[in-house]
Amino acid sequence: MDLSVVILAAGQGSRMRSKLPKVLHKLAHKPLLTHVIDVAEKLSAQDIHVVYGHGGEVVRDVLSERNVSWVKQEEQLGTGHAVAQAVPHLSDDHVVLVLYGDVPLTTKETLQQLLEQVSTKSMGLLTAVLENPHGYGRIVRNSDNVVQCITEEKDATDEIRKIREVNTGILAAEGGKLKEWLGRLKNNNAQGEYYLTDIIAMAVNDGMEVKTSHAAAVEEVEGINNRNQLAKIERYYQRQQAEQLMTAGVTMKDPARFDLRGTVETGMDVTIDINVILEGEVVLGNDVEIGANCLLRNVTLGDGCVILPNSIIENAQLGCQCAIGPFARIRPDTVLADRVKIGNFVEVKKAHVGEETKINHLSYVGDSIIGRDVNIGAGAITCNYDGANKHITEIGDGAFIGSDSQLVAPVKIGAGATIGAGSTITTDTPEDTLTLTRSKQRSVDSWVRPQKKK
Ligand code: UD1
Ligand code: CA
Repeated sequence: MDLSVVILAAGQGSRMRSKLPKVLHKLAHKPLLTHVIDVAEKLSAQDIHVVYGHGGEVVRDVLSERNVSWVKQEEQLGTGHAVAQAVPHLSDDHVVLVLYGDVPLTTKETLQQLLEQVSTKSMGLLTAVLENPHGYGRIVRNSDNVVQCITEEKDATDEIRKIREVNTGILAAEGGKLKEWLGRLKNNNAQGEYYLTDIIAMAVNDGMEVKTSHAAAVEEVEGINNRNQLAKIERYYQRQQAEQLMTAGVTMKDPARFDLRGTVETGMDVTIDINVILEGEVVLGNDVEIGANCLLRNVTLGDGCVILPNSIIENAQLGCQCAIGPFARIRPDTVLADRVKIGNFVEVKKAHVGEETKINHLSYVGDSIIGRDVNIGAGAITCNYDGANKHITEIGDGAFIGSDSQLVAPVKIGAGATIGAGSTITTDTPEDTLTLTRSKQRSVDSWVRPQKKK
Protein backbone atom coordinates (compact mmCIF):
# COMPACT_ATOMS: atom_id res chain seq x y z
CA MET A 1 0.00 0.00 0.00
CA ASP A 2 1.08 3.58 -0.68
CA LEU A 3 2.15 5.70 2.23
CA SER A 4 1.06 9.16 3.36
CA VAL A 5 2.83 10.80 6.27
CA VAL A 6 1.24 13.43 8.50
CA ILE A 7 3.71 15.41 10.58
CA LEU A 8 2.28 17.34 13.52
CA ALA A 9 4.11 20.60 13.97
CA ALA A 10 1.52 23.10 15.12
CA GLY A 11 2.52 23.29 18.75
CA GLN A 12 3.93 26.54 20.00
CA GLY A 13 6.82 25.07 21.94
CA SER A 14 6.60 27.72 24.64
CA ARG A 15 9.11 25.92 26.84
CA MET A 16 11.84 26.72 24.34
CA ARG A 17 11.32 30.36 25.35
CA SER A 18 12.19 31.43 21.85
CA LYS A 19 11.05 33.70 19.03
CA LEU A 20 11.59 30.75 16.74
CA PRO A 21 8.93 28.04 16.40
CA LYS A 22 10.19 24.92 18.15
CA VAL A 23 10.41 22.74 15.04
CA LEU A 24 12.88 25.20 13.49
CA HIS A 25 15.37 24.80 16.31
CA LYS A 26 18.33 22.89 15.01
CA LEU A 27 19.77 19.49 15.74
CA ALA A 28 23.16 19.02 14.08
CA HIS A 29 22.57 22.26 12.13
CA LYS A 30 19.32 21.01 10.65
CA PRO A 31 15.83 22.09 11.80
CA LEU A 32 14.07 19.42 13.86
CA LEU A 33 11.28 19.31 11.31
CA THR A 34 13.78 18.71 8.50
CA HIS A 35 15.00 15.56 10.23
CA VAL A 36 11.42 14.31 10.30
CA ILE A 37 10.72 15.20 6.66
CA ASP A 38 13.98 13.47 5.69
CA VAL A 39 12.99 10.20 7.33
CA ALA A 40 9.53 10.41 5.75
CA GLU A 41 11.23 10.74 2.37
CA LYS A 42 13.48 7.78 3.12
CA LEU A 43 10.31 5.75 3.59
CA SER A 44 9.33 6.75 0.04
CA ALA A 45 6.10 8.37 1.24
CA GLN A 46 3.78 9.32 -1.63
CA ASP A 47 2.87 12.50 0.14
CA ILE A 48 3.93 14.31 3.27
CA HIS A 49 1.54 16.68 5.02
CA VAL A 50 2.91 19.06 7.60
CA VAL A 51 0.31 20.37 10.03
CA TYR A 52 1.47 23.80 11.12
CA GLY A 53 0.01 26.47 13.28
CA HIS A 54 1.74 28.84 15.62
CA GLY A 55 4.42 30.83 13.81
CA GLY A 56 3.71 28.55 10.91
CA GLU A 57 4.41 31.03 8.14
CA VAL A 58 8.03 31.17 9.26
CA VAL A 59 8.18 27.37 9.20
CA ARG A 60 6.80 27.34 5.67
CA ASP A 61 9.27 29.99 4.54
CA VAL A 62 12.29 28.19 5.96
CA LEU A 63 11.26 24.87 4.49
CA SER A 64 9.74 26.23 1.27
CA GLU A 65 12.07 24.11 -0.85
CA ARG A 66 10.72 20.88 0.57
CA ASN A 67 8.23 18.84 -1.36
CA VAL A 68 5.53 18.70 1.29
CA SER A 69 1.95 19.89 1.54
CA TRP A 70 1.21 22.44 4.24
CA VAL A 71 -1.95 22.06 6.26
CA LYS A 72 -2.89 24.82 8.65
CA GLN A 73 -4.38 24.07 12.05
CA GLU A 74 -5.87 27.42 13.06
CA GLU A 75 -6.44 26.50 16.68
CA GLN A 76 -4.58 23.83 18.59
CA LEU A 77 -7.43 21.69 19.79
CA GLY A 78 -5.42 18.51 20.28
CA THR A 79 -3.44 15.88 18.40
CA GLY A 80 -6.58 14.25 16.98
CA HIS A 81 -7.82 17.59 15.71
CA ALA A 82 -4.39 18.22 14.20
CA VAL A 83 -4.39 14.97 12.20
CA ALA A 84 -8.01 15.64 11.21
CA GLN A 85 -6.88 18.82 9.39
CA ALA A 86 -5.06 16.60 6.90
CA VAL A 87 -8.05 14.31 6.33
CA PRO A 88 -9.26 16.00 3.11
CA HIS A 89 -5.87 15.19 1.58
CA LEU A 90 -5.65 11.56 2.69
CA SER A 91 -6.59 8.63 0.45
CA ASP A 92 -8.56 5.80 2.01
CA ASP A 93 -6.28 3.21 0.48
CA HIS A 94 -3.01 4.72 1.73
CA VAL A 95 -1.36 3.74 4.96
CA VAL A 96 -1.15 6.89 7.05
CA LEU A 97 1.82 7.35 9.38
CA VAL A 98 1.68 10.07 12.04
CA LEU A 99 5.00 11.66 13.01
CA TYR A 100 5.90 14.70 15.11
CA GLY A 101 7.96 17.72 14.10
CA ASP A 102 9.65 17.74 17.49
CA VAL A 103 10.64 14.05 17.53
CA PRO A 104 13.63 14.18 15.21
CA LEU A 105 15.54 10.93 15.52
CA THR A 106 13.18 8.10 14.70
CA THR A 107 14.96 5.87 12.20
CA LYS A 108 13.70 4.52 8.93
CA GLU A 109 14.15 0.96 10.27
CA THR A 110 12.00 1.60 13.34
CA LEU A 111 9.26 3.13 11.20
CA GLN A 112 9.39 0.35 8.63
CA GLN A 113 8.88 -2.14 11.41
CA LEU A 114 5.89 -0.13 12.60
CA LEU A 115 4.43 0.04 9.10
CA GLU A 116 4.63 -3.74 8.82
CA GLN A 117 2.04 -3.95 11.61
CA VAL A 118 -0.60 -2.28 9.45
CA SER A 119 -3.16 -4.32 7.52
CA THR A 120 -6.91 -4.24 6.88
CA LYS A 121 -7.29 -5.94 10.28
CA SER A 122 -4.63 -4.15 12.30
CA MET A 123 -2.94 -0.86 13.03
CA GLY A 124 0.54 -0.12 14.35
CA LEU A 125 1.50 1.78 17.49
CA LEU A 126 5.03 2.67 18.52
CA THR A 127 5.38 2.32 22.27
CA ALA A 128 8.27 2.52 24.74
CA VAL A 129 8.84 1.16 28.20
CA LEU A 130 10.20 3.91 30.42
CA GLU A 131 11.68 3.95 33.89
CA ASN A 132 9.78 7.18 34.48
CA PRO A 133 6.58 7.29 32.39
CA HIS A 134 5.41 10.60 33.89
CA GLY A 135 3.56 12.84 31.45
CA TYR A 136 2.99 10.23 28.78
CA GLY A 137 -0.16 8.47 27.67
CA ARG A 138 -0.18 4.92 29.07
CA ILE A 139 -0.79 1.76 27.04
CA VAL A 140 -3.59 -0.13 28.72
CA ARG A 141 -3.65 -3.89 27.99
CA ASN A 142 -6.11 -6.57 29.10
CA SER A 143 -5.21 -9.75 30.99
CA ASP A 144 -4.24 -11.37 27.66
CA ASN A 145 -1.82 -8.52 27.10
CA VAL A 146 -3.93 -7.18 24.23
CA VAL A 147 -3.92 -3.38 23.81
CA GLN A 148 -7.28 -1.88 24.80
CA CYS A 149 -6.76 1.86 24.83
CA ILE A 150 -4.41 4.72 25.64
CA THR A 151 -5.11 6.79 28.72
CA GLU A 152 -3.53 10.21 29.02
CA GLU A 153 -1.72 10.94 32.29
CA LYS A 154 -4.19 13.68 33.18
CA ASP A 155 -7.14 11.31 32.77
CA ALA A 156 -5.49 8.33 34.43
CA THR A 157 -6.20 6.65 37.74
CA ASP A 158 -3.29 5.94 40.10
CA GLU A 159 -3.41 2.32 38.96
CA ILE A 160 -3.01 3.27 35.29
CA ARG A 161 -0.28 5.76 36.11
CA LYS A 162 1.82 2.83 37.33
CA ILE A 163 1.96 1.42 33.78
CA ARG A 164 5.40 1.97 32.35
CA GLU A 165 4.59 1.26 28.73
CA VAL A 166 3.89 4.61 27.11
CA ASN A 167 2.58 6.02 23.86
CA THR A 168 5.30 7.63 21.76
CA GLY A 169 2.53 9.26 19.72
CA ILE A 170 3.79 7.67 16.50
CA LEU A 171 1.24 5.40 14.88
CA ALA A 172 0.12 4.06 11.53
CA ALA A 173 -3.23 2.89 10.18
CA GLU A 174 -5.16 2.52 6.97
CA GLY A 175 -6.37 5.89 5.71
CA GLY A 176 -10.06 4.98 5.41
CA LYS A 177 -10.24 3.62 8.94
CA LEU A 178 -8.27 6.50 10.41
CA LYS A 179 -10.58 9.07 8.83
CA GLU A 180 -13.61 7.31 10.21
CA TRP A 181 -12.18 7.25 13.75
CA LEU A 182 -11.03 10.87 13.61
CA GLY A 183 -14.58 11.88 12.64
CA ARG A 184 -15.86 10.32 15.84
CA LEU A 185 -13.43 11.98 18.29
CA LYS A 186 -14.88 13.88 21.26
CA ASN A 187 -13.15 16.29 23.60
CA ASN A 188 -14.81 15.28 26.86
CA ASN A 189 -11.57 14.71 28.77
CA ALA A 190 -9.41 16.40 31.37
CA GLN A 191 -7.77 18.73 28.82
CA GLY A 192 -10.85 19.39 26.67
CA GLU A 193 -8.82 18.29 23.62
CA TYR A 194 -9.45 15.99 20.69
CA TYR A 195 -7.00 13.23 21.54
CA LEU A 196 -5.51 11.23 18.68
CA THR A 197 -4.96 8.52 21.27
CA ASP A 198 -8.72 7.92 21.55
CA ILE A 199 -8.67 6.17 18.17
CA ILE A 200 -7.01 3.17 19.83
CA ALA A 201 -10.14 2.23 21.78
CA MET A 202 -12.21 2.81 18.62
CA ALA A 203 -9.98 0.47 16.64
CA VAL A 204 -10.32 -2.19 19.33
CA ASN A 205 -14.11 -1.69 19.25
CA ASP A 206 -14.09 -2.20 15.49
CA GLY A 207 -12.40 -5.55 16.01
CA MET A 208 -9.00 -4.31 14.86
CA GLU A 209 -5.82 -5.49 16.46
CA VAL A 210 -3.46 -2.80 17.74
CA LYS A 211 0.04 -4.15 17.16
CA THR A 212 2.85 -2.47 19.03
CA SER A 213 6.50 -2.16 18.15
CA HIS A 214 9.48 -0.51 19.82
CA ALA A 215 12.33 1.69 18.71
CA ALA A 216 15.88 0.38 19.05
CA ALA A 217 16.69 3.21 21.50
CA VAL A 218 14.40 5.45 23.55
CA GLU A 219 16.17 8.54 22.20
CA GLU A 220 14.58 7.72 18.85
CA VAL A 221 11.15 8.56 20.19
CA GLU A 222 12.06 11.38 22.54
CA GLY A 223 10.35 14.65 21.84
CA ILE A 224 12.02 17.98 22.38
CA ASN A 225 10.23 20.49 24.55
CA ASN A 226 13.03 22.61 25.96
CA ARG A 227 16.65 23.47 25.29
CA ASN A 228 17.92 20.98 27.86
CA GLN A 229 16.31 18.16 25.93
CA LEU A 230 17.60 19.63 22.70
CA ALA A 231 21.17 19.56 24.01
CA LYS A 232 20.77 16.05 25.34
CA ILE A 233 19.45 14.73 22.03
CA GLU A 234 22.21 16.60 20.17
CA ARG A 235 24.85 14.80 22.28
CA TYR A 236 23.13 11.47 21.72
CA TYR A 237 23.01 12.08 17.97
CA GLN A 238 26.64 13.18 17.83
CA ARG A 239 27.71 10.14 19.82
CA GLN A 240 25.88 7.91 17.32
CA GLN A 241 27.62 9.60 14.41
CA ALA A 242 31.03 9.30 16.08
CA GLU A 243 30.42 5.63 16.71
CA GLN A 244 29.44 5.08 13.08
CA LEU A 245 32.65 6.76 11.98
CA MET A 246 34.78 4.69 14.32
CA THR A 247 33.05 1.55 13.05
CA ALA A 248 33.93 2.72 9.55
CA GLY A 249 37.61 2.87 10.56
CA VAL A 250 38.14 6.44 11.76
CA THR A 251 40.29 7.02 14.85
CA MET A 252 38.64 9.55 17.13
CA LYS A 253 40.68 10.88 20.02
CA ASP A 254 37.47 11.52 21.93
CA PRO A 255 34.10 10.65 20.39
CA ALA A 256 32.42 12.82 23.00
CA ARG A 257 34.17 15.88 21.63
CA PHE A 258 33.20 15.67 17.98
CA ASP A 259 30.40 17.24 15.96
CA LEU A 260 29.21 16.33 12.52
CA ARG A 261 26.61 18.77 11.23
CA GLY A 262 26.09 17.32 7.82
CA THR A 263 27.67 14.36 6.08
CA VAL A 264 31.20 13.03 5.86
CA GLU A 265 32.82 10.43 3.62
CA THR A 266 36.03 8.99 4.96
CA GLY A 267 38.92 7.02 3.49
CA MET A 268 41.06 4.58 5.46
CA ASP A 269 42.97 5.50 8.60
CA VAL A 270 41.60 8.97 9.11
CA THR A 271 42.41 10.45 12.53
CA ILE A 272 40.32 13.14 14.17
CA ASP A 273 41.54 14.92 17.28
CA ILE A 274 39.28 16.56 19.86
CA ASN A 275 36.78 19.39 19.29
CA VAL A 276 36.59 19.00 15.56
CA ILE A 277 33.45 20.25 13.81
CA LEU A 278 32.56 19.04 10.35
CA GLU A 279 29.74 20.86 8.56
CA GLY A 280 27.91 20.49 5.27
CA GLU A 281 29.44 17.94 2.92
CA VAL A 282 32.91 16.87 3.90
CA VAL A 283 35.10 14.31 2.14
CA LEU A 284 38.27 13.09 3.84
CA GLY A 285 40.74 10.97 1.85
CA ASN A 286 42.92 8.17 3.20
CA ASP A 287 45.30 8.95 6.08
CA VAL A 288 43.92 12.42 6.66
CA GLU A 289 44.70 13.86 10.09
CA ILE A 290 42.64 16.63 11.59
CA GLY A 291 44.08 18.38 14.62
CA ALA A 292 42.26 19.72 17.65
CA ASN A 293 39.75 22.57 17.36
CA CYS A 294 39.34 22.60 13.59
CA LEU A 295 36.20 23.57 11.71
CA LEU A 296 35.72 22.18 8.20
CA ARG A 297 32.68 23.18 6.18
CA ASN A 298 32.00 21.79 2.70
CA VAL A 299 35.55 20.63 2.22
CA THR A 300 37.26 17.89 0.25
CA LEU A 301 40.68 16.78 1.48
CA GLY A 302 42.90 14.53 -0.62
CA ASP A 303 44.86 11.60 0.79
CA GLY A 304 47.40 12.37 3.47
CA CYS A 305 46.34 15.94 4.21
CA VAL A 306 47.29 17.12 7.67
CA ILE A 307 45.25 19.89 9.24
CA LEU A 308 47.01 21.24 12.30
CA PRO A 309 45.07 22.60 15.29
CA ASN A 310 42.80 25.63 15.25
CA SER A 311 42.34 25.85 11.52
CA ILE A 312 39.15 26.78 9.69
CA ILE A 313 38.51 25.58 6.15
CA GLU A 314 35.38 26.45 4.23
CA ASN A 315 34.15 25.56 0.73
CA ALA A 316 37.56 24.45 -0.39
CA GLN A 317 39.14 21.59 -2.24
CA LEU A 318 42.56 20.35 -1.25
CA GLY A 319 44.78 17.95 -3.15
CA CYS A 320 46.87 15.22 -1.55
CA GLN A 321 49.33 15.73 1.29
CA CYS A 322 48.60 19.36 1.91
CA ALA A 323 49.64 20.68 5.31
CA ILE A 324 47.46 23.38 6.79
CA GLY A 325 47.84 25.39 9.98
CA PRO A 326 48.05 25.62 12.88
CA PHE A 327 45.79 28.69 12.99
CA ALA A 328 45.15 28.86 9.25
CA ARG A 329 41.99 30.12 7.62
CA ILE A 330 41.02 28.85 4.20
CA ARG A 331 37.99 30.67 2.87
CA PRO A 332 35.52 29.77 0.11
CA ASP A 333 36.46 28.99 -3.48
CA THR A 334 39.98 27.95 -2.66
CA VAL A 335 41.55 25.09 -4.57
CA LEU A 336 44.92 23.77 -3.45
CA ALA A 337 46.91 21.34 -5.59
CA ASP A 338 48.98 18.51 -4.05
CA ARG A 339 51.53 19.13 -1.30
CA VAL A 340 50.64 22.78 -0.76
CA LYS A 341 51.66 24.16 2.61
CA ILE A 342 49.64 26.86 4.32
CA GLY A 343 51.13 27.88 7.66
CA ASN A 344 50.09 29.76 10.75
CA PHE A 345 48.03 32.95 10.60
CA VAL A 346 47.60 32.70 6.86
CA GLU A 347 44.28 33.58 5.25
CA VAL A 348 43.53 32.30 1.77
CA LYS A 349 40.40 33.24 -0.16
CA LYS A 350 39.24 32.41 -3.67
CA ALA A 351 42.66 31.27 -4.71
CA HIS A 352 44.04 28.51 -6.89
CA VAL A 353 47.40 27.40 -5.57
CA GLY A 354 49.74 25.12 -7.53
CA GLU A 355 51.64 22.06 -6.35
CA GLU A 356 54.21 22.37 -3.57
CA THR A 357 53.66 26.06 -3.12
CA LYS A 358 54.33 27.32 0.39
CA ILE A 359 52.58 30.17 2.16
CA ASN A 360 54.00 29.66 5.57
CA HIS A 361 53.36 32.62 7.82
CA LEU A 362 51.07 35.61 8.35
CA SER A 363 49.93 36.18 4.77
CA TYR A 364 46.71 37.15 3.06
CA VAL A 365 46.21 35.63 -0.36
CA GLY A 366 42.90 36.48 -2.01
CA ASP A 367 41.51 36.36 -5.57
CA SER A 368 44.74 34.80 -6.76
CA ILE A 369 46.07 32.30 -9.24
CA ILE A 370 49.36 30.96 -7.98
CA GLY A 371 51.62 28.56 -9.83
CA ARG A 372 53.62 25.63 -8.52
CA ASP A 373 56.72 25.78 -6.31
CA VAL A 374 56.00 29.34 -5.34
CA ASN A 375 57.29 30.58 -2.00
CA ILE A 376 55.34 33.38 -0.39
CA GLY A 377 57.30 34.95 2.44
CA ALA A 378 56.03 35.89 5.87
CA GLY A 379 53.56 38.73 5.92
CA ALA A 380 53.20 39.07 2.14
CA ILE A 381 49.78 40.36 1.16
CA THR A 382 47.71 40.47 -2.00
CA CYS A 383 45.95 43.84 -2.08
CA ASN A 384 42.92 42.50 -3.93
CA TYR A 385 40.42 45.23 -3.10
CA ASP A 386 40.64 48.84 -4.22
CA GLY A 387 37.73 49.94 -2.10
CA ALA A 388 35.24 49.28 -4.87
CA ASN A 389 36.26 46.20 -6.81
CA LYS A 390 38.22 43.01 -6.35
CA HIS A 391 41.16 42.28 -8.63
CA ILE A 392 43.23 39.24 -9.46
CA THR A 393 46.84 38.55 -8.57
CA GLU A 394 48.70 36.03 -10.72
CA ILE A 395 51.99 34.52 -9.61
CA GLY A 396 53.96 32.33 -12.04
CA ASP A 397 55.61 29.00 -11.24
CA GLY A 398 58.68 29.10 -9.05
CA ALA A 399 58.31 32.75 -8.05
CA PHE A 400 59.63 33.92 -4.68
CA ILE A 401 57.73 36.67 -2.93
CA GLY A 402 59.87 38.35 -0.28
CA SER A 403 58.50 38.88 3.18
CA ASP A 404 56.19 41.78 3.88
CA SER A 405 55.57 42.52 0.21
CA GLN A 406 52.31 43.95 -1.05
CA LEU A 407 51.09 42.83 -4.43
CA VAL A 408 48.60 45.46 -5.55
CA ALA A 409 46.12 43.77 -7.87
CA PRO A 410 45.51 43.52 -10.72
CA VAL A 411 49.11 42.40 -11.07
CA LYS A 412 51.12 39.53 -12.52
CA ILE A 413 54.37 38.21 -11.12
CA GLY A 414 56.35 36.38 -13.81
CA ALA A 415 57.48 32.78 -13.42
CA GLY A 416 60.77 32.48 -11.55
CA ALA A 417 60.60 36.13 -10.48
CA THR A 418 61.92 37.23 -7.10
CA ILE A 419 60.30 40.08 -5.25
CA GLY A 420 62.56 41.74 -2.73
CA ALA A 421 61.30 41.85 0.83
CA GLY A 422 59.12 44.80 1.73
CA SER A 423 58.26 45.75 -1.85
CA THR A 424 55.02 47.31 -2.98
CA ILE A 425 54.39 45.86 -6.42
CA THR A 426 51.89 47.77 -8.54
CA THR A 427 52.79 46.70 -12.07
CA ASP A 428 53.55 43.33 -13.67
CA THR A 429 57.04 41.99 -13.02
CA PRO A 430 59.24 40.11 -15.50
CA GLU A 431 60.13 36.42 -15.31
CA ASP A 432 63.33 35.24 -13.64
CA THR A 433 64.21 38.74 -12.48
CA LEU A 434 64.60 40.42 -9.12
CA THR A 435 62.10 43.23 -8.66
CA LEU A 436 62.08 45.39 -5.59
CA THR A 437 60.76 48.72 -4.48
CA ARG A 438 62.59 49.83 -1.45
CA SER A 439 63.78 53.16 -0.13
CA LYS A 440 67.52 53.42 0.36
CA GLN A 441 68.78 52.44 3.78
CA ARG A 442 70.72 55.10 5.69
CA SER A 443 72.23 55.47 9.13
CA VAL A 444 72.17 58.85 10.92
CA ASP A 445 75.36 59.39 12.93
CA SER A 446 74.20 62.61 14.57
CA TRP A 447 70.98 61.16 15.99
CA VAL A 448 70.62 60.96 19.75
CA ARG A 449 68.00 58.86 21.41
CA PRO A 450 65.59 61.01 23.50
CA GLN A 451 66.09 60.83 27.26
CA LYS A 452 63.34 60.85 29.82
CA LYS A 453 62.99 64.31 31.48
CA LYS A 454 64.07 64.37 35.11
C1 UD1 B 1 0.95 13.18 23.29
C2 UD1 B 1 0.06 11.94 23.42
C3 UD1 B 1 0.60 11.05 24.53
C4 UD1 B 1 2.03 10.70 24.26
C5 UD1 B 1 2.86 11.95 24.04
C6 UD1 B 1 4.24 11.60 23.58
C7 UD1 B 1 -2.15 12.67 22.78
C8 UD1 B 1 -3.50 13.08 23.26
N1 UD1 B 1 -1.28 12.37 23.71
O1 UD1 B 1 0.79 13.88 24.51
O2 UD1 B 1 -0.18 9.89 24.63
O3 UD1 B 1 2.54 9.93 25.32
O4 UD1 B 1 2.28 12.80 23.04
O5 UD1 B 1 5.03 12.74 23.57
O6 UD1 B 1 -1.93 12.58 21.59
N2 UD1 B 1 0.15 19.16 18.27
C9 UD1 B 1 -0.40 19.84 17.21
N3 UD1 B 1 -1.65 20.37 17.33
C10 UD1 B 1 -2.38 20.23 18.47
C11 UD1 B 1 -1.79 19.54 19.55
C12 UD1 B 1 -0.54 19.02 19.42
O7 UD1 B 1 0.22 19.98 16.16
O8 UD1 B 1 -3.51 20.73 18.50
C13 UD1 B 1 1.50 18.61 18.14
C14 UD1 B 1 2.47 19.31 19.06
O9 UD1 B 1 3.15 20.31 18.35
C15 UD1 B 1 3.40 18.22 19.48
C16 UD1 B 1 2.60 16.95 19.35
O10 UD1 B 1 1.49 17.27 18.56
O11 UD1 B 1 4.51 18.12 18.61
C17 UD1 B 1 2.19 16.37 20.68
O12 UD1 B 1 1.35 17.28 21.34
P1 UD1 B 1 1.38 17.48 22.88
O13 UD1 B 1 0.35 18.43 23.25
O14 UD1 B 1 2.76 17.74 23.34
O15 UD1 B 1 0.94 16.04 23.36
P2 UD1 B 1 1.24 15.41 24.75
O16 UD1 B 1 0.33 15.99 25.74
O17 UD1 B 1 2.68 15.41 25.03
CA1 CA C 1 4.60 16.43 24.27
